Amino acid sequence: MKTQVAIVGAGPSGLLLGQLLHNAGIDTLIIERQTPDYVLGRIRAGVLEQGMVDLLREAGVAARMDREGLVHEGFEMVFDGRCERIDLKALTGGSTVMVYGQTEVTRDLMEARKASGAPIIYEAANVQLHDLKGDKPWLTFEKQGELVRVDCDFIAGCDGFHGVSRQSIPAEILKNFERVYPFGWLGLLSDTPPVSEELIYAQHPRGFVLCSQRSATRSRYYLQVPLADKVEDWSDERFWSELRNRLPAETAAQLVTGPSLEKSIAPLRSFVVEPMQYGKLFLVGDAAHIVPPTGAKGLNLAASDVSTLYRILVRVYREGRTDLLEKYSPICLRRIWKAERFSWWMTQLLHEFPEQEGFDQRIQQTEREYYLSTLAARQTIAENYVGLPYESVE
Ligand code: APR
Ligand code: PHB
Repeated sequence: MKTQVAIVGAGPSGLLLGQLLHNAGIDTLIIERQTPDYVLGRIRAGVLEQGMVDLLREAGVAARMDREGLVHEGFEMVFDGRCERIDLKALTGGSTVMVYGQTEVTRDLMEARKASGAPIIYEAANVQLHDLKGDKPWLTFEKQGELVRVDCDFIAGCDGFHGVSRQSIPAEILKNFERVYPFGWLGLLSDTPPVSEELIYAQHPRGFVLCSQRSATRSRYYLQVPLADKVEDWSDERFWSELRNRLPAETAAQLVTGPSLEKSIAPLRSFVVEPMQYGKLFLVGDAAHIVPPTGAKGLNLAASDVSTLYRILVRVYREGRTDLLEKYSPICLRRIWKAERFSWWMTQLLHEFPEQEGFDQRIQQTEREYYLSTLAARQTIAENYVGLPYESVE
């Protein structure tokens, strides 16, 4: 087989890049290890920055998001028993975020791919990348026992943290930066009305809580839990009762509970790999970086990588601007590190750290106090939460 851009992975990164390139008249082939149902079964975050919303519109896949997504103009932060609203719109001069689940973004992108007739291969096993430093890279995979070869100009590694793309770059080229946190998030999805109109990020001595939502009738809640905990340790009853315990009394009184549709525990990690390019291979999204979910940045960073790679590739094909290719990694990394910083900082600020005591505890408490008591500090939270600007490729 032959294509211009081979895309490994059909998560949000691969599908969105595929859609934008297809619309620009560039041939793509998407190769995914799992089935579509498996991809759609993963419950992930649900807050889209304005930049991602605009990119989905540009890709022509925003109709349902614009109908069903919820524009949020602020969120609540609770610490040391105090409830404070971060008025995103007022603090940023008009920016907001869109609450719309990653699963729905993925579903819309899958449908658009199907409607476009552009090729996508699911259940492709043993993807391997070859000649990445040469002029003509290629990849192979196995489908129903047969070995398939794909020749291409470029490969986009959109295959997530555990994918093959990053592992195809010689280890001595890569520099990994990592921080692992000593706790996880236990998430529960339920068909119950959200406890509050806006998201609530709450610090509590028993552990952090996030009250999020997918719609007016579907809620997503998270509890900070020890890494050793298993989902089986957490019956729905135990989850709801712990959530109630950690919320301010007035909020807890509003909580509507119901059976869980999904429950899972995710560890928290910060990770960045540098550089994000090796010859004709470009790493995109989770393949190159992970953030703890506290800042709602994972999906949004994938979108800014996609935007950058898309704009560079269009100019390469239309104007022969191959000089732009080497700008991909530095442009992406500048924005990624800022989002890494914000996600790490929000995580530090709001979680209970098992080993932390004395001085560190007082500093954490003071930082919370300071960040909510000055306008400049609230603006800093707001501008990061709605998303820092995308850098132009020139
Ligand atoms: N071959 C083919 N496909 C693969 C391979 C492989 N060797 N390894 C992984 N994949 C597929 C996965 O099955 C998955 O569908 O690549 C896809 C990667 O998707 P995601 O993990 O969702 O990553 P990405 O598309 O970058 O999405 C952005 O940011 O923080 C997160 O939650 C957020 O998942 C979201 C991500
Ligand atoms: C979610 O809705 O799953 C969600 C929202 C905001 C976050 C993290 C997760 O910061």
